[in-house]
Amino acid sequence: MPRVPFRFESSEDCDDDLYTLDAFDEPRVARKAARTVRRPDPVEPPAGIDDPGEPADLDGPPAGDRWSTWDGATHGPKPRPDWVVTALGAVDYELGVLKTGKEADVFLIDRQVPDGGPRCLLAAKRYRTSEHRSFHRDAGYLEGRRVRRSRENRAMARRTDFGRELLAGQWAAAEFAVLGVLREAGVAVPYPVSLDGTELLQEFIGDASGTAAPRLAQCRPGGAELGSLWDQLLDAMSTMARHGLAHGDLSPYNLLVHGGRLVMIDLPQAVDIVGNPQGVGFLRRDVVNVCDWFAARGLTAADPEAIFEMLLSEAHLG
Ligand SMILES: Nc1ncnc2c1ncn2[C@@H]1O[C@H](COP(=O)(O)OP(=O)(O)OP(=O)(O)O)[C@@H](O)[C@H]1O
Ligand SMILES: [Mg+2]
Repeated sequence: MPRVPFRFESSEDCDDDLYTLDAFDEPRVARKAARTVRRPDPVEPPAGIDDPGEPADLDGPPAGDRWSTWDGATHGPKPRPDWVVTALGAVDYELGVLKTGKEADVFLIDRQVPDGGPRCLLAAKRYRTSEHRSFHRDAGYLEGRRVRRSRENRAMARRTDFGRELLAGQWAAAEFAVLGVLREAGVAVPYPVSLDGTELLQEFIGDASGTAAPRLAQCRPGGAELGSLWDQLLDAMSTMARHGLAHGDLSPYNLLVHGGRLVMIDLPQAVDIVGNPQGVGFLRRDVVNVCDWFAARGLTAADPEAIFEMLLSEAHLG
């Protein structure tokens, strides 16, 4: 088996420390301005969330930032959780930015039916189409995923505006599909609510006041809690391996901890362990990334070689 060089998340991924919502740098945030009106006062953004206001748009709803995007979007798998608001008259309030990244920006959305109807919090992941977006995943992960039409392949290769839009849409669609598959397989991932072009709406992992769950990298679990998180991680990775999948960018930065539950996020590049020529290498790197973190906290079971072998065997490759 060829050994893939160990790579932890880039330093840019490591700059946000304990429990802070990071990178509220408004100018970098791509917004859907055309559908946006300034929201009225009653809904306040949760503490720590930036609130970038926008000028009025007369086509917008009477309240909220935009009409719910439910109508016309691709919907997540059934059974649909009860909490998902599907009413066509619902409106979305954008409460602020959870995180801006090089490849996508994640926003907190409050979707509600006006006048006290049902409501739910959502995380909107918007893939960037801008020239300045740097998607480190475009290279290796796209193998075996090319679209059939050569005009579109050429546009993506040349990074024309059209090509960038296509690429961003492909990544959003890929993550939406993987979340659906994993959800149905019983892996703890956010429920994929809907897909609309380059925007993926998913279950918000956090509390009702809009405070997002911390990443594993920001937590300091010990004893039984550490053991429980490790068990949950192994369960998730084993189930994925049985489905022939590896996360492809797994690290303590792409695992959220909410009420003792470990939830895996950020899955656009999930790879087919067998079908992708680099699949086994990605699996090994995932294993090393998470084992290192748990081993550094004293968990002796976090032995990368043993876990890697176990997962290969789950994927019928061992
Ligand atoms: N469903 C969610 N619920 C709560 N917070 C979320 C959710 N999805 C993403 N986040 C927050 O947004 C951050 C970025 O999300 P994600 O990792 O999916 O995007 P990304 O653009 O790939 O970011 P990065 O490049 O930092 O990995 C997460 O680390 C987490 O803090
Ligand atoms: Mg991430």
